[in-house]
Amino acid sequence: MYDKFLSPVGRQLHESAIRRMGTVIARAPDMVSFAAGYPDPASFPWEELRELADGLLASREPGVLQYGPTRGYGPLLETIVGVLSARGIATTPDQLTITSGSQQGIDLIGRVLISPGDAVLVELPAYTGAIAAFKNAQAHLVGVRQDADGIDLDDLDAVCLRERAAGRTVNLLYLVPNFQNPAGSLLSLERRQRLLAWADRRDVLIVEDDPYGALYFDDVTTAGATRPMRADDGHGRVIYLSTFSKTLAPGFRVGWMVAPGALIERFETAKQTIDLMTGSFDQRIVHEAVSRGIVDRLAPQLRQIYRAKRDVMQEALREAFGDRVSWDVPKGGFFLWATLPDGCEDEALLARAVEEHVVFVIGSAFYVDGTGHNRIRLSFSAPTPDRIREGTRRLAAAMAALEVGTR
Ligand SMILES: Cc1ncc(COP(=O)(O)O)c(C=O)c1O
Repeated sequence: MYDKFLSPVGRQLHESAIRRMGTVIARAPDMVSFAAGYPDPASFPWEELRELADGLLASREPGVLQYGPTRGYGPLLETIVGVLSARGIATTPDQLTITSGSQQGIDLIGRVLISPGDAVLVELPAYTGAIAAFKNAQAHLVGVRQDADGIDLDDLDAVCLRERAAGRTVNLLYLVPNFQNPAGSLLSLERRQRLLAWADRRDVLIVEDDPYGALYFDDVTTAGATRPMRADDGHGRVIYLSTFSKTLAPGFRVGWMVAPGALIERFETAKQTIDLMTGSFDQRIVHEAVSRGIVDRLAPQLRQIYRAKRDVMQEALREAFGDRVSWDVPKGGFFLWATLPDGCEDEALLARAVEEHVVFVIGSAFYVDGTGHNRIRLSFSAPTPDRIREGTRRLAAAMAALEVGTR
């Protein structure tokens, strides 16, 4: 009955494939979820956060619970300037805005920079939250191949020229250079430099989404391997997004965006009508957590936790599948991007896996070109090591049942 009330955009709204999994998981409490990229809840610094929250509320300082500037809490913006400087990015608060998670930054880019029908270039595969946001802005999403070193620059240029020859505007390239979601890939430093030159040459803006850069494992030995492109962006080509979701806690919904001042003003205006501001209380807690060194102290522990979980998952997969399932070893982040044996297809496997009480995200959800059915994304970040082993056994049972069924 409500369909007639929906606008054309409202009718076509796209949901992220990962969020959709949430309902499946909620229905079965015993479900092992390798689906959403949730941080390990045992890593949250509960006690320190409780003390910070107590202190803030005891202060009765009105700003703690009051409306504030859309751009964000001033001292937090200053703190983020410091966080960025440690990543090699020199910036000032006028080039910054706080966002409700980096997801809001992606959505703001869709609203402010994308016209209906514009071609937006994304990796094959790409983060589903960006795919959904850009589709909602009515972008025409075009995929670019990538390998273990990240996006393929020859394909990128060919795709860009092809889209332009077809009469489409190509203004934006979105990518996740550090421990990509879902592929876990790390864009090589050489490609980062070449991408900046490419963006200049083709007059394109790069959206560099970096939630996982701090979560590298011991295999990342080259100093500066995660250095953001924004750090070497002499020509204002890069819009940089990051977040405290993976390095502190996602419940605060505190992320940020760095862009040339003229663009930041547009993003700020767009944000005003969405939420007026990111929550004051959340920003204050995050500010205290960063400035008191809690976030920096946590980082080595997180790297250790996630590396250990990656290793548990790799071992469990080898034990359960031998060499029938393969993957590139992720050097950081939350995800293992697995290739299925010939004839095993992502959606059929998921349908069977739900019956075995284990879920993951189907590979095809990350491809804008309709491929990827031989892939699945397994998040090792949230479940305990025992649950990772149990979930992997269930996954193997699901695959075995599927194979019996098709024989
Ligand atoms: C690549 C990427 N970008 C953005 C986000 C959104 O993060 P936030 O919690 O900061 O909105 C995620 C979350 O999983 C992600 O993987």
